[in-house]
Amino acid sequence: MRAVVLVGGFGTRLRPLTLTTPKPMLPVGHEPMIARLVGRLARGGVTEVVLALGFRPEPFMEAFPDGRCGDVGLTYAVEPEPLDTAGAIRFAAETAGIDDTFVVANGDVMTDLDVATLVDAHHRFGARATLHLIGVDDPSAFGVVDLADNGQVRAFVEKPAPGTEPSNLINAGTYVFEPDVLDLIPPGERVSVERDTFPLLVAAGGVYGLATDDYWIDAGRPDLYRAANLDLLDGLRRNEHADPVAASAAVAADATIRNSIVGDHVVVAPGATVVDSVLLPHASVGGSAVVERSLVMGRIGVGSHVSDSMIGAAGAVADGEVVRDTSIPPTP
Ligand code: GDD
Ligand code: MG
Repeated sequence: MRAVVLVGGFGTRLRPLTLTTPKPMLPVGHEPMIARLVGRLARGGVTEVVLALGFRPEPFMEAFPDGRCGDVGLTYAVEPEPLDTAGAIRFAAETAGIDDTFVVANGDVMTDLDVATLVDAHHRFGARATLHLIGVDDPSAFGVVDLADNGQVRAFVEKPAPGTEPSNLINAGTYVFEPDVLDLIPPGERVSVERDTFPLLVAAGGVYGLATDDYWIDAGRPDLYRAANLDLLDGLRRNEHADPVAASAAVAADATIRNSIVGDHVVVAPGATVVDSVLLPHASVGGSAVVERSLVMGRIGVGSHVSDSMIGAAGAVADGEVVRDTSIPPTP
């Protein structure tokens, strides 16, 4: 079975981290998000993945130079310009010559869904498209569905105004498609699968949904990207885990690391305290500094205090500085 994985977005909500690293290449528990996603798809029977790339394809090609990620063969489909989600799916499927039932996944979804379960449901429903669904408390930031008892999707609304959602069941960003879904997508244009294609398909009666209670996070927002990392420490995941401190990190013996991920080649100086945070590869934390609830790629000065902030690769916090709720470098 083949899968198209959408990895061509701009990662706007994770700037400044995504100014240097595309969102799906950001680490979750020391491994690029995309590697964990591809590994999970492989456990569910996917043998080939087409990466639907737009913005900054090079880091993906450098990370997987032999065109493989584990046992999975990779095809790179690089859009000449961003085609939005449906445009990207069509372009990627055509590039790879997909002509059979296939899987589609958003590149920032971290979940324990066994994709084989979704494929089985798709065949049982006799659907043209089957969506993985998750129940959440506040559905308005997502695609929301109205689901009939027989599993058929009666309505799909992308990011409805709060209070107008048809249910609390959201599009969890993994789909199974029949290839004829591609015929509904005009070629070479910006087309949204959520705003254009799903409403068309729902009207034609071909969309079904499978709701599960698997672990699920869209890691595309700062707090949830942090949670996607820290949840690997807490044993909340079925098949995924991570050690807190990478073997190549240099952490002073008297530094305190609590509920945090310390990535490859990170340096944490004596007396520093790191709590509920992710230090990405090559970050550094100066002596006696405190870092709380933050995502750090750059340099944290001696004796500084950083909370609820994102420090990009080019970012630096001066010695003794207090930084709260801030992005460095600032993002427009
Ligand atoms: N190749 C390509 N080209 N990929 C794109 C493009 C594009 O033009 N635009 C977005 N993507 C990719 C992103 O990289 C991401 O992996 C995926 O498409 C979804 O985009 P997001 O920007 O993460 O969307 P979202 O999180 O606001 O909403 C989507 O995900 C929710 C679940 O996490 C929607 O699918 C919602 O309906 C859904 O509930
Ligand atoms: Mg997202």
